[in-house]
Amino acid sequence: MYKIAVLPGDGTGPEVVKEGLKVMEAASQKAGFRYETVTYDLGGERYMKTGEILPESVLEELKTFDAIYLGAIGHPDVKPGILEKGLLLALRFELDQYINLRPVKLYPGVYTPVKDKGPEDIDFVVVRENTEGLYTGTGGALKKGTSEEVAIQTSVNTRKGVERCLRYAFEYTKRRGKRNTLTLVGKTNVLTHAFDLWERAFNEIGDDEFGEIKREYAHVDATCMWMVKNPEWFDVIVTDNMFGDIITDLGAMIQGGMGIAAGGNINPKGVSMFEPIGGSAPKYTGKNVINPLAAICAAGMMFDTLGQHEAADTIEKAVMAVTAGKLESLSAGKMGYSTEEVGDLVVDALGGV
Ligand code: IPM
Ligand code: MN
Repeated sequence: MYKIAVLPGDGTGPEVVKEGLKVMEAASQKAGFRYETVTYDLGGERYMKTGEILPESVLEELKTFDAIYLGAIGHPDVKPGILEKGLLLALRFELDQYINLRPVKLYPGVYTPVKDKGPEDIDFVVVRENTEGLYTGTGGALKKGTSEEVAIQTSVNTRKGVERCLRYAFEYTKRRGKRNTLTLVGKTNVLTHAFDLWERAFNEIGDDEFGEIKREYAHVDATCMWMVKNPEWFDVIVTDNMFGDIITDLGAMIQGGMGIAAGGNINPKGVSMFEPIGGSAPKYTGKNVINPLAAICAAGMMFDTLGQHEAADTIEKAVMAVTAGKLESLSAGKMGYSTEEVGDLVVDALGGV
């Protein structure tokens, strides 16, 4: 019996989470395991009512769950940064979810803006470091508001942080067993301190522990080019926090958009958190038009990480059946079905896969 914390969050978060839960229920029944959920009202509304973002007591409770299922964070009436830092990044850091795992996979029937590429070409996974780099908040400002203002934002790369991320990526590449190729994405020609550490650790760990995994290196700018020109070159990518953030938005676009892109914030020995990677989409809130597939895929990733591989596999296959045969588009309002109907379609498809 698993314990799952549900954080529907802001905007369309609650709508997509509801469909995810519906699919989880059906898939777990089919696979024969059970879980219980506890829902938390963290997000913009609670912040505006009470001033609370992530109370210490809630954080402590969250540590006792097997996983967290998150909808979306971000409220139009709250200054940008407050909820992102106070809730999303705080959870990633406090729960030491040092991996952000983001599959970039084009499902059958899904439109990609990349001409002449299909599902056989677009199928790779980005392993993004999730607790260091430019995201630590290290740095500061001097003479703010004057013409001599100085703003410093430092990228933090620790041997320990880099190594654990690389090891996870190597192991993941091995487990995936697709092309046994891990590409380090960096900027060794300019960020000579940070990516020197990454590159040395990459080669050392690769040589010492993962001789069977082929290693490649690509600069981040060139990676953006290749993700569009030759996405089939990639199997697994490992990169730092900021670059991982940027290239996975590009990744989401080539796999059909934010409606389908899911991610996991993973602490392999702790509490991991799964989310659709798109935002709270305020303009679609309450309209029953947003695409829940990303949230449904995130639920699948959660089951996979919990060790329920069969249920995870079934969810993915059901999603693929729906993208291949039913939806007109993955975009909000253009799917040919409502949010709830898409959830129902996936549940129906579960029966047949
Ligand atoms: C993401 C988001 C977050 C990030 C923001 C909302 C802080 O863009 O999950 O990719 O930068 O990590
Ligand atoms: Mn992002």
